Amino acid sequence: MSTTSADELREEVRRRYADSARAVGEGTGAASCGGGSCCADDRTSFGEALYDSEQRGAVPKAATLASLGCGNPTAVAELREGETVLDLGSGGGIDVILSAKRVGEHGLAYGLDMTDEMLALAQQNAQEAGVRNAIFLKGVIEQVPLPASSVDVVISNCVINLSTDKAAVLAEMARVLRPGGRVGVSDVVAEDRLSPDERAERGSYVGCIAGALSVAEYAAGLEAAGFEEVSVEFTHEVADGLHGAIVKAVKSTTPATNGLPTIQPVVSAGCC
Ligand SMILES: C[S@@+](CC[C@H](N)C(=O)[O-])C[C@H]1O[C@@H](n2cnc3c(N)ncnc32)[C@H](O)[C@@H]1O
Repeated sequence: MSTTSADELREEVRRRYADSARAVGEGTGAASCGGGSCCADDRTSFGEALYDSEQRGAVPKAATLASLGCGNPTAVAELREGETVLDLGSGGGIDVILSAKRVGEHGLAYGLDMTDEMLALAQQNAQEAGVRNAIFLKGVIEQVPLPASSVDVVISNCVINLSTDKAAVLAEMARVLRPGGRVGVSDVVAEDRLSPDERAERGSYVGCIAGALSVAEYAAGLEAAGFEEVSVEFTHEVADGLHGAIVKAVKSTTPATNGLPTIQPVVSAGCC
């Protein structure tokens, strides 16, 4: 197992997902399966298979092909008309487009991604879907380019495991949400029995395995960031002891007292 700096890992992630976006844009197939991206070789545990036919029909084909998530946050996050939603790591835009439709013309859906190629693909998909209340922002999820208390719901699909500073991501989620705001995230999550090294033995970092938090780490991190009603529910196994999961929480209406969560940055590139 090699150790890699956080910057190198983030650059590797960016390059991998830029390749995925290019593959879809050039019409050479679904987003880089087998290339070590989140879907790896398994299109039943990751990607468009996790959306029902009605949802798949509501977005352009390129958005479903670019889907690299490990769940369907739009199915678990309660979205109401007129609300503002933020999708962390929006990729080809599938969850932003579906959210924009759910919150309606008086609502707004932001997609945030660091990869230019994904942002371009998402813009194109949103335009093709006829969605006007979607805004795609370039930036990193560890430093969200939105003001405090400006969002009602944060969603994300298989991205937080890719962050090299998960404590910063959870703190940013708490900062941008209004008090009482909700989190509905899909992510890969490890059983508590697996050490970080054991997670890294089961798959790569860019493949959404090595960087997965455990259930206890996720819950403690969210609580330390100022969230309540935290739940982490496994939906399907993606590797031995690692699962697609739904993570839910509500931002407390009273400020957090114990500061930043103490999740260690993960900088092991993992296997494969
Ligand atoms: C596994 S894909 C998931 C994309 C999308 N959520 C979906 O369900 O198809 C990961 C996406 O997150 C983006 N990403 C990864 N780490 C990021 C970070 N630290 N900040 C912003 N975007 C990031 C990548 O560029 C890529 O588009």
